[in-house]
Order: sequence, then C-alpha cells, then structure tokens
Amino acid sequence: MQSPIVQKLVSGYQEIFSTKPLLFRSPGRVNIIGEHTDYNNGFVLPAAINKAVYVAVEKRQDDQIVLYSIDFKDKFEGHLSEVRRSDKHWANYILGVVAQFLKRGHKPGGFNLVIDGDVPLGAGLSSSAAVECATAYALNELFALGIGKKDLALMAQKAEHEFAGVLCGIMDQFASVFGKKDHVIKLDCRSLDYEYVPLKLEGYKILLLNTNVKHSLASSEYNTRRQQCEEGVAMIGKHHPEVKSLRDATMEMVNQYVKVNEVIYRRCKYVVEENTRLLEGCEDLKKGDINALGAKMFRTHDGLSKEYEVSCPELDYLVGSVRSNPNVLGARMMGGGFGGCTINLVRETAIEELVKELSAAYSKEMNKELTPYIAQIEQGTSEEKI
Ligand code: GLA
Repeated sequence: MQSPIVQKLVSGYQEIFSTKPLLFRSPGRVNIIGEHTDYNNGFVLPAAINKAVYVAVEKRQDDQIVLYSIDFKDKFEGHLSEVRRSDKHWANYILGVVAQFLKRGHKPGGFNLVIDGDVPLGAGLSSSAAVECATAYALNELFALGIGKKDLALMAQKAEHEFAGVLCGIMDQFASVFGKKDHVIKLDCRSLDYEYVPLKLEGYKILLLNTNVKHSLASSEYNTRRQQCEEGVAMIGKHHPEVKSLRDATMEMVNQYVKVNEVIYRRCKYVVEENTRLLEGCEDLKKGDINALGAKMFRTHDGLSKEYEVSCPELDYLVGSVRSNPNVLGARMMGGGFGGCTINLVRETAIEELVKELSAAYSKEMNKELTPYIAQIEQGTSEEKI
C-alpha cells in the first residue's frame, strides 16, 4: 500500500511527463544530544525520522534539467551546461547537488525530477538536507555513478554551503543517508567513523514540539557562531598548535586562553562541555539510564540558550514549561536554533494530556500555534517501490 504522499507524487509526475519514474526517499532527522558540535569536529547523536522528502526521477534524452515542486506548484527548467544558483529557493537545493556531481567530474545526463515530502520546512528537522540527500542518492542510482554513501552525504553538505550559503556541519546529511530503524548514530564528525546505538526508551517517546517560528535568522547567525568557534581555536592554538578545532580543546585551555574575550569564551565553553555531555549521554543510553540522559538534555538547552545564544523566547518557553514535569525526562531546543522544534522525552501515556495543556498555554503566551509530532526512528535514504 502506497502512502498518500507517494501516490500524490507519482500521479503528479505522470500528469506532467506521462511516464513511470524511479522513486527515492530521504528522511529528516532528530538529534538526541550534541548540538553545534559537528562543525567543531566533535560528536553528534542523530537519527532519521518518519518524515521524509521523496523525489520521482527519470533520465531524459537531452541535457535539460526539468524540476517540479508539488508543494510550491512551481517548475524549473535549466541545462546541464549552466548549473547555477537560481531565484527559485526550492530548486537550489537540487541544483546545488547537481553542481557537486559536475565539480567532481561525474557526468549525469539530463533528467526530470518531481519533489514532495512531509518534513516541515524551517522546523529544524533538516528538510534541506533531506532534499539534497534524496537528489544525490537518486542521481547516483539513475546514472550508475558508483559513488559511496559517505561521499554522497559530503556532496549534499557542500551543496548546502555553496547553493544555500549555510556553512553547516555534516550531521544532517549523514543522518539522512545513514539512518537506521530504532537506532541513533554516534558520529565522530572528524573521522566520520560511526556506531549505531539502539534507542531503547522503555515507555517513553520522542515528542517534537514545533514553535512554528521559522528559523530565518539562522543562516547568518549560524555562520557567525562557526566563525566565533574558529576565533577561539586560534586563541588556544597560539599556545597549543596541536589544537586544530574545539574537539581538541579542554576546559582548562578555554579558561586559560579564551576568557579575555567574554563572548568567544561562552561559545567555546558551551561546545567543549557539550561534547563531553554527549559522550556521557551516549553511555547513559547504552546503560538504559534515560533519566540521566534527559537531565543532560536540559543542561544542553541552558547552554544553547545562555552561552551559545541560539535559542528564542518560544523555545525557552516550551522547555521551561516541561522542566519540572515528572513525565518529561528531558527537553531542549534542537538543530541550528532561532526557532524550529524542541525535542522532548515524554512518558508515552502522558503525551496526549501534555500536548493539550501546552498547546493552550503556548497560544495564550506566545500567540502562536504549537504543532506536535511523535518522531519514530527510521531507515535512511532508500529507493522505494512504485
Ligand atoms: C544545523 C546544521 C547542522 C548542525 C546543527 C546544529 O542543523 O545543518 O550541521 O550544525 O544545525 O547542531
């Protein structure tokens, strides 16, 4: 049985091109703990979720690229010989990936691609990475280019840098491609070595609460944070040349060499502590101590809000509202920040009541709607049967 979204996509494709395409799916992601650590060469703990982007694709006989977004009801046409950033925001994530294939000397031909999905946009669930990874995976299969999964994720990341202008780390693309059902990925963002850790939540579920604040500020502030971390590394590196990223730094070093600059100090302190918190949190998960993991998630939120300063009043409000709720083991803002979702570990039997109460309170206090999702952990990028 095809999901409604797949049915809509395939019939949409056939209305435009009247042929039968191949279909690929790439999911959004959650991250349990380890935020803003990826571009500091640290660890992250993401997982792919049951919300995904789908692309229906087919080769063309010529070198045209014809794209259609069901969501935006918008078409893009271009030529393989002149792939550049367009004025269509949605198309740029696809074109950015095509550009990476060409840059690496691969020769995809012309193609038709129709896209749709149910990853909410701007909600911190990595809809853009899902588009990039679905495209990268699809073109690799369609043109039998033989590129490995790690390289596909890296190409998708580069597409984000060059066509969306966000100097993101590798977490989102890696999670989308490498996701494994009911597991989180402990990823070392320096070596790209990874380990799957079973996510056993014993009566608890991952509840995502979308503030419905779109994180539009995020790209510029995101790049600024990255730069601030690099400044911190440079300050430490003068004394410890072996320190090439905050992954290599200790709190002693941060205290000794970065305190002179108060802002950079807070940024570096958060990252170094978060990396340790993640490693310990991952051990908590392996031991089945999700209480301890949950407590760390609250500490991560405090760090992101007060030291790294990537939260917003709506995210702070939602985390504050559940902090002393005995049915919530942990909560924090998730992803790049400035909006999007909080991730909450909530006792399954308490979810309905909690969502009801919080939705009412949130709309009263923040004058916005709250959108809840229960995240299930799924496989990464795949080809789907039609
Ligand atoms: C965004 C980026 C990721 C990561 C997170 C913060 O999602 O795309 O690379 O840096 O923010 O952890």
